[in-house]
Amino acid sequence: MGFVSQDWMFSSAILVLVLMLVMSVPPCSSTASKNTENNVKTTVYLSPKIELSPGFISNKIYYDVEFPKGHVALKSFQAELVDESGNSVPLQETYLHHWIVLRYRQPKNATNQTGIIIERNDGVCQGDTVDETFGRGAETRGTNPYIPDPYGLEIGNPSNIQEGYDEKWIINVLAIDTRGVEDRVGCYECRCDLYNHTSINAFTGEPLTPSYKGGLGCCPDNAQCRMKKGFWGPKNTLYLKYTIKWVNWDEFVIPVKIYLLDVTDHLKISYNYKSTGMSIKHTCKTEYQVKPCNKSHVGGCVDVKRASVPINTAGYIVYGVAHQHVGAIRSTLYGQDGRVICNSFPTYGTGMEAGNEKGFVVGMSACYPKPGSVKLFDGEILTAEALYNNSIEHTGVMGHFYILVAEKLPHHHV
Ligand SMILES: *[C@@H]1O[C@H](CO)[C@@H](O)[C@H](O)[C@H]1NC(C)=O
Ligand SMILES: *[C@@H]1O[C@H](CO)[C@@H](O)[C@H](O)[C@H]1NC(C)=O
Ligand SMILES: *[C@@H]1O[C@H](CO)[C@@H](O)[C@H](O)[C@H]1NC(C)=O
Ligand SMILES: *[C@@H]1O[C@H](CO)[C@@H](O)[C@H](O)[C@H]1NC(C)=O
Ligand SMILES: *[C@@H]1O[C@H](CO)[C@@H](O)[C@H](O)[C@H]1NC(C)=O
Repeated sequence: MGFVSQDWMFSSAILVLVLMLVMSVPPCSSTASKNTENNVKTTVYLSPKIELSPGFISNKIYYDVEFPKGHVALKSFQAELVDESGNSVPLQETYLHHWIVLRYRQPKNATNQTGIIIERNDGVCQGDTVDETFGRGAETRGTNPYIPDPYGLEIGNPSNIQEGYDEKWIINVLAIDTRGVEDRVGCYECRCDLYNHTSINAFTGEPLTPSYKGGLGCCPDNAQCRMKKGFWGPKNTLYLKYTIKWVNWDEFVIPVKIYLLDVTDHLKISYNYKSTGMSIKHTCKTEYQVKPCNKSHVGGCVDVKRASVPINTAGYIVYGVAHQHVGAIRSTLYGQDGRVICNSFPTYGTGMEAGNEKGFVVGMSACYPKPGSVKLFDGEILTAEALYNNSIEHTGVMGHFYILVAEKLPHHHV
């Protein structure tokens, strides 16, 4: 079940607010747009209980979680780990490796998960990796995305749901309790030698090889990271608290598509001139390893990983952000002509409090291009690039670029 994998992304709240103000001023008086801001509804939900003893991992899938009902347009999705009193839990106590939100269809009246269909995002990976609608990791609190008006992510459209099915939502949370552990960084980088899970790669289901040093494969549910001798702490009960902003769907909302590029994507292109012509197979590994650089290396210790993949729609980028782990320097998305479409930079915490934890990536900056200013053409090859500081080795890092693309602009009347 590869979709147990991802984490995720997004931006600085202040930037979002500033840009929302800028963007709510229409560039020209447009009859096809309407200010939806006043109609935005906010709903706050809690996931099922997440119970964690010191050093343990919780990596569970929650089916049929609460979500706004009906035909609506999502405007934002924010989440964080809270304790039973509703207080934010800092990352040095419980590391939020990732949460992901996935859309699926379930046969009506089903009593179990037999026959469900996962509804991937719009691309470009394939199979059951990097398929989420939303997702992020430790940087969640400092990355508060907002889909600017008049755009929205359409959900619950009855005409898009097959007869006999209901639309539902999965949340997967991977949380790592690092109270009393021997090596906190190693635990949240899921280093195999620190976990009591040794034979099967929990992510791919294949045997673990010595060359695989760490990552999702060594972070299954209920594994425990190596502890300091004699440490004792109580079992904590936590929740993923998630806040969704949304508006009722109407003709003025312009739907966005979600593209999620992974720097580990390897393309296999095959040609069949008799049928459809070219076919492209993506292999997205979700995560990778950053080898330590050689001390003698000139120009600094920077690991660069890139993937170039074609996008199968024309449109305009309305939002972009990367997801990276500790060690991140930046991520960049380039157009086919080499132009920079979006830079996303990490913010590192400097204190102890939730949202500003020293040594952690506590936010990723996002891009909100002026509507219409960043156009993609159908088939355009985009390049996602992730830079890590490899003065030390990192295991299980990610380089994902998440973009929202609108196929039309507000002034294109229907
Ligand atoms: C689901 O159950 C309801 C009530 O029991 C029934 O009316 C309906 O026909 C069922 N739907 C399907 C697809 O089986
Ligand atoms: C799931 O439910 C269906 C009927 O609703 C049943 O036939 C099937 O055996 C169940 N599968 C499991 C694994 O329980
Ligand atoms: C890891 O060890 C703990 C106890 O030390 C045990 O409860 C847990 O089941 C083990 N997990 C795995 C995946 O082996
Ligand atoms: C460091 O140098 C060794 C020996 O030249 C080489 O095998 C290794 O790949 C280098 N490591 C990196 C990260 O470049
Ligand atoms: C990488 O990290 C090391 C250790 O923290 C630091 O000294 C170095 O300046 C960093 N390099 C870059 C390119 O950020």
